[in-house]
Amino acid sequence: MTKFIVVASSKGGVGKTTTAINLATALHGFGREIILVDANISTPNVGIYLGASKVPITLHDVLSAEKPLSDSIYILRSGLKVIPASISISDQKKARHELLGKYLQQLAGKAEIVIIDSAAGLGGEMISAIKTGDEIIIITTPDLASVTDALRTVRVCRDHNKKILGIIVNRVREDDFEIAKSNIEFILEHPIIALIPEDDTIRQANHLKSPVTYSHPNAPSSVSYKKLAAKILGVKYVESIEKDDSMFDYVLKTIGLKP
Ligand SMILES: Nc1ncnc2c1ncn2[C@@H]1O[C@H](COP(=O)(O)OP(=O)(O)OP(=O)(O)O)[C@@H](O)[C@H]1O
Ligand SMILES: [Mg+2]
Repeated sequence: MTKFIVVASSKGGVGKTTTAINLATALHGFGREIILVDANISTPNVGIYLGASKVPITLHDVLSAEKPLSDSIYILRSGLKVIPASISISDQKKARHELLGKYLQQLAGKAEIVIIDSAAGLGGEMISAIKTGDEIIIITTPDLASVTDALRTVRVCRDHNKKILGIIVNRVREDDFEIAKSNIEFILEHPIIALIPEDDTIRQANHLKSPVTYSHPNAPSSVSYKKLAAKILGVKYVESIEKDDSMFDYVLKTIGLKP
């Protein structure tokens, strides 16, 4: 059965898109069928981060009832499937976010997990995305403003009877100025399932228009995303022993196609 997981936070810029892209890529790296959806209708970034913003048919064409959902699915270099959104303002005016659930249901049976990126705020667009999820991952950074907004997101999930898979704390520096993890769990009343370090490699990966988990599989943030993916799949995380290899080389060697 396909599981729909929404990556959410009403605070902007805390790492929802970065997490959606890298969690989806890491899950796909375990050989699973995954589809990543950019359900941030008004400020979509998935296509921009992945160099896939100029595609002929986007989620917006689906939500304006002009094109079938199956025509909006593309395959990235990594093999991950993605449904990008349109960055055109006129497309955004036509798209009806309230139809998101109806159309995304068509992905049932087409992937093991659908990862859905969502918009910041607490508006209708964010609620439409939350409603599509079987489970919600809440993203926060370890500061008071972000955790406060994460609490609002937790409340929205509760209001809509949505299961929260857990909290991801992003951009962790482990310095004295961060809110303690125990306090974050206490405030948000859910466990932390991953700590993603502050990692400049993410900026390098953005420059390459690649998920950091794909272009820099051994970067600290990539390792954290891969461990999270293993946890979600209930499989053991095994660290790559050949640090200089790309994930692609690693897989080829593992299956015996490369010496
Ligand atoms: N762990 C990290 N280390 C360093 N930079 C990061 C990390 N996570 C995210 N960033 C950077 O922070 C910025 C915002 O990230 P991102 O776009 O994923 O946030 P968002 O929550 O999706 O934002 P929005 O609310 O606008 O959709 C990006 O430039 C991204 O590269
Ligand atoms: Mg985003």
